[in-house]
Amino acid sequence: MTEYSLAPLAGYTDLPFRRVCRRFGLKVAYTPLIDSGALVYGNKDNPQILARGEDEPWLAVQVLGSRLEDLRKSGQILNQMDFDAVDFNMGCPVRKVLKRCAGAELTRHLDKALDCVKVLREVVTKPFTVKTRILDEVDPEPTVAFCHALEACGVEAIAIHGRLPERIYAGPVAFHVIRAVREALRIPVTANGGIFTLEDARQLQEGTGCERLMVARGALGNPWLFKTLNEQSLYTPSHEEICEVVETQVRDMVRLYGNPGGLVVSRKTILGYLCKWRYPKPLRVKVSSISTWNEFHAFMQEVRASEKRQ
Ligand SMILES: Cc1cc2nc3c(=O)[nH]c(=O)nc-3n(C[C@H](O)[C@H](O)[C@H](O)COP(=O)(O)O)c2cc1C
Repeated sequence: MTEYSLAPLAGYTDLPFRRVCRRFGLKVAYTPLIDSGALVYGNKDNPQILARGEDEPWLAVQVLGSRLEDLRKSGQILNQMDFDAVDFNMGCPVRKVLKRCAGAELTRHLDKALDCVKVLREVVTKPFTVKTRILDEVDPEPTVAFCHALEACGVEAIAIHGRLPERIYAGPVAFHVIRAVREALRIPVTANGGIFTLEDARQLQEGTGCERLMVARGALGNPWLFKTLNEQSLYTPSHEEICEVVETQVRDMVRLYGNPGGLVVSRKTILGYLCKWRYPKPLRVKVSSISTWNEFHAFMQEVRASEKRQ
C-alpha cells in the first residue's frame, strides 16, 4: 500500500500542524529542519522545532549542517531525544545555507557530503536517513551514483526531491531520475515533488514506481489531502470543518509559541487556509493585523459569517 508522508517544511510542519494532519490519516512525518549548530549551542527556538506530541506516531527529526564537529555533537544530542529516526538535509536551496556548503550545496560537493553522512552514521544510534535532490534532470546516472554511495555509507532510506537546487520549488519533477534511483538501490526510496492533488500523487507514483510518496506544499492549508490520498477519493472539507481546524491549529500554536507571539506566527497558517479555500480577499487582507486572542476571535466570527468560494 502506498505510504504518504509529510515532508519537513521549515516554519510549517511544527507539532500543531502535524497534529491536524494526523487527524486525517498522516503517519510518517518529519520535524522542520534544525541546524546542527543551533542544536549544539542550544538556540532558544529549539524546543518549538523539536516539540513532539505524545500522541504522535512515527516522527523523524531533520538536521542540517556541514561542520563535522557540530554534526557529531548534534547526532549525540538527538540520540537522547524521542525521535524514530534522524534525517540529514541535503536539499535546502536557501542562499545563506548554500554559502556555508550545507543543504543542497552538498550535492555539488560530493566528498564533503559523504564526510557529513559518515560522521552522522557513526554517531546516530537510530535509523538514519537522507533527504536530497536530483543532481541532473536529464541524465539519471549522477544521482544514482550519489545515492549508491549514500547507501554504501549505511543510510537506511532516501527521500528525493525531483528538482535541481537552482529550480528551488518550481518546474517539473524528473520522475525518471527518481525511478532510476529506486531501481538501483536496495534501501527504500521516497519520491517527493509536486503533490497537490490525487492525480499528482498517481502520476508521481506511476512515473517513479515508488510506494513511498512525500507531500510538502500541497498539505499547507489542506491537511485533508491525507484523507483524500489515503482513501483515494477527493475529500472537500465543509466551511465549518475549515473553521474548526483553523481554530484548533491556532490554539495549539499559541500553546507552543506563547501568547501573543503565537498569533503572529500563525498568520501565515491562517492565510494558507483562506487562500487554499478561496475565501474573499478582504478577509485575507485582515490576517496581517491579527495580534491578540480577541482579534483572532473577532476575525473568526467574520470568517464564519462568510462563505468560502468554490
Ligand atoms: C516553505 C518551505 C520550507 C521547507 N523546509 C524544508 C525543510 O526544513 N527540510 C527539507 O528537507 N525540505 C524543506 N522544504 C522542501 C520540501 O520538503 C519539499 O522537498 C519541496 O517543497 C518539494 O515538494 P512539493 O513540490 O510537494 O512542495 C521546504 C519547502 C518549502 C516551500
